[in-house]
Amino acid sequence: MRRNRRTEWARRLTRESNVMPDDLIWPLFVQEGKGTRTPVPSMPGVERLSIDLLVKAVGEATALGIPAIAVFPVTPQELKTPNGREATNPDNLVCRAVRAIKEANDDIGVICDVALDPYTTHGQDGIVRDGEILNDETVGVLCKQAIVQAHAGCDVIAPSDMMDGRIGAIRKALDSEALEQVNLLAYSAKYASAFYGPFRDAVGSAQSLGTADKRTYQMDPGNTDEALREVALDVAEGADMVMVKPGMPYLDIVRRVKESFGLPTFAYQVSGEYAMLRGACDQGWLDWERAILESILCFKRAGADGVLTYAAPEIAKLLSA
Ligand code: PBG
Repeated sequence: MRRNRRTEWARRLTRESNVMPDDLIWPLFVQEGKGTRTPVPSMPGVERLSIDLLVKAVGEATALGIPAIAVFPVTPQELKTPNGREATNPDNLVCRAVRAIKEANDDIGVICDVALDPYTTHGQDGIVRDGEILNDETVGVLCKQAIVQAHAGCDVIAPSDMMDGRIGAIRKALDSEALEQVNLLAYSAKYASAFYGPFRDAVGSAQSLGTADKRTYQMDPGNTDEALREVALDVAEGADMVMVKPGMPYLDIVRRVKESFGLPTFAYQVSGEYAMLRGACDQGWLDWERAILESILCFKRAGADGVLTYAAPEIAKLLSA
């Protein structure tokens, strides 16, 4: 066995999976203001950017060969309401950001999340009545949210809300607005995970959510067959691509989804995974360059076609070095 491992050329020749910039999707946080950047304390190296700086960052990502970015808005507290009304405002922060990115005319895909949590005072992804997250009422609002984002120029609508039936409803809504070219990337298997903590700090939904959780709509971490049923439904409803989230603790799900459906399958190396790796590296306990590259390689080996990672530009730089 060791002959194939003896030299670098042999290792390269026999390696089954590789990481390329084409595998990377970069999630970014956008905030109000001009020329402002605000670090996210629980995600060292990650900053919330005003639109002008965001456009620059996207230009750099394009130059590095990253094929797509995902934009997440930091909604000012005074715009949050119980029903998340700001989500459907065609001039909300994320729509303005998408328009500005598209004006720069970079050859890069823009992905927008569909869910109400950045806009609700309670931090839930849907509309709440008597403590219940209402499914169908929420889906109606998500359709409107998807339409304003798509009209702003978003290329890929990525529902991350985990309401039932939303993929079919959003597909229909987009088609009825002559937005049939817009892709749907379904967060099909999204688990009720503790690893989203730093993201919720970054977008300011952590304080809204308080001690509440999302276990009545996000998946139970103990389940895997259920993930396949979720993906089957989303594919039947019109999803073009699917996502598994979180990533590293859920690579078994990535493997099963890819093998069962064979459609473009992405995994999200979520904020908590980034924080773990970065935190350990900042302590000097792990080597950042080797650890981050290995982590992405493992997603590829598990069957992912691409990875959402906050380290995307750093990884792309390492690959071109
Ligand atoms: C919101 C959303 C979340 C993430 C992406 N979209 C958080 C949540 O569901 O509470 C998490 C991403 C990350 O942790 O990096 N629907």
